[in-house]
Amino acid sequence: MHDKAAAGEVTAVQHTDVIHALFGLIGNACSPSPGPIPCPVTRTWSTTSAGSTAPPAMQQHVRENQRPVAGSVRSKAPSPARRGPPTVVFMPYGIPGNESASARSRRHIFGDDADQYDAARPGYPHQLVQDILEFSALAADEPVLEVGAGTGKATVDFARLGVPVTCVEPDVRMAGVLRRRCAQLSDGGVTIEVADFETWHPRRRYGLLYCAQAWHWIDPAVRWTRARCALVPGGAIALFWNHWFLECGELADRLTAVHARHGVEVPPDTLLDPRPRPARRGPEARQWRDMTAAGFVEPDHRLYTSVHERSTSALIDLVNSYGGYRALPAGARERVLNEMAHIVAEHGGRARVKVITSLFLGRTPPAATG
Ligand SMILES: C[S@@+](CC[C@H](N)C(=O)[O-])C[C@H]1O[C@@H](n2cnc3c(N)ncnc32)[C@H](O)[C@@H]1O
Repeated sequence: MHDKAAAGEVTAVQHTDVIHALFGLIGNACSPSPGPIPCPVTRTWSTTSAGSTAPPAMQQHVRENQRPVAGSVRSKAPSPARRGPPTVVFMPYGIPGNESASARSRRHIFGDDADQYDAARPGYPHQLVQDILEFSALAADEPVLEVGAGTGKATVDFARLGVPVTCVEPDVRMAGVLRRRCAQLSDGGVTIEVADFETWHPRRRYGLLYCAQAWHWIDPAVRWTRARCALVPGGAIALFWNHWFLECGELADRLTAVHARHGVEVPPDTLLDPRPRPARRGPEARQWRDMTAAGFVEPDHRLYTSVHERSTSALIDLVNSYGGYRALPAGARERVLNEMAHIVAEHGGRARVKVITSLFLGRTPPAATG
C-alpha cells in the first residue's frame, strides 16, 4: 500500500479482490437529464452557529447512522438512573450539551491535528486509481479536480502518475500538509485552492472529478449540480470511501466493550461499527441513486479489499483519526483509547485490519449533437 507516513507500523499483508459490479447501464433510463445547469453559489446552511446547523447531508447522515442496531451497544437506550460515567450519545457533527464542540464546525475537525490524520490513515488501492483513470479516458496532461483533498492521501497517487490535479480543500491546516507532501513530488502538478466546494468557482471544466472520503461533507442540496457544472459533457465522477474492519472477532468484542464501560457509543462508520458495511451496493446504494437522479449516466460500483497489519499504536492512531472519536470530550476519548491500547497490547500488540474501499463511478451525459 502507499501509506508512507505510517511505514513500519502498518504492513499491507495482502491485496485481494476487486469486485467489479457493473450492475447494468441504467443511468439514462433512470432519470432524464435535467437540462441547463444553474450553479448555485450560496450555502444553504451555516457552519458557525450551534444547534441544528449541520448541513442537510450531515443531518441525514446522523439520522441514518443512529438507527439502533440489534445486539450492539448502540441499541441500548441510556438509562437516566444509570451509575458511572455519563453516556456520550455519538453525534458525528455535534455533541449535545457541549457548546464549544457544537459551535465549532464539525467539518474542520480533521484539521485539528492534520499531521496525525495523515500519519494514521491508509491511502487507497493502486488498482482503484488505475480504474478511475481508465474509466475517465482523459487526454494526456488533462487536469483533474479533487474535492476535499485533505492532506493528499489520494492526491499523491494521481500526481505520481503524472496527472495534474486541482485540489479544493477548505481547511487551511489540512491544505498545509497537502502542500508539504506535494512539494516532494517530482511529476504531476498539484494546484491547491483553499475553499468550500459549494462556493468555489471552477475556472475551467474537467474530464474527471474525484472525491476520497469527503463527499458526505458537501451540502447535498448543491453538490451534484456543482459537480456537473465543473465537468465537461461525458466527464467522469469518482467517489470513494474506505470501510475498516478488525479481522479478529474476539479482539473486536473486547474493544467494543471498552466503549460500553465508559458510556460511549461506537461512532458509526469506524473500525468497530457492528453494522454491515458498505451496507448497500450498486443500485441499492444511496450514492448510486443520488447520482443517477442528478442525471449522471453509466453508474458503476466497485469494491477493493486489502488487509493491513497494525501495531498497537498504529491501530489506536487510526481510531483517533476518526471524526467520531475526535468529537468526543477529551477526557472520555483518552480513557477509551488508553484502555483499548492496553487490550491490543495484551492481545500480542498487533491487529489485522481489513479495508474495503467502495468506489462509485458515473459520468455526465454526452453533449447533445445535431
Ligand atoms: C475525511 S477527510 C478526507 C480527506 C482526504 N480526501 C482523504 O482521503 O484522506 C474529509 C475532508 O473533506 C474536507 N471538506 C469538508 N467540507 C468540505 C467542503 N464543503 N468542500 C470541500 N472539502 C470539504 C475536510 O476539510 C477534510 O479534509
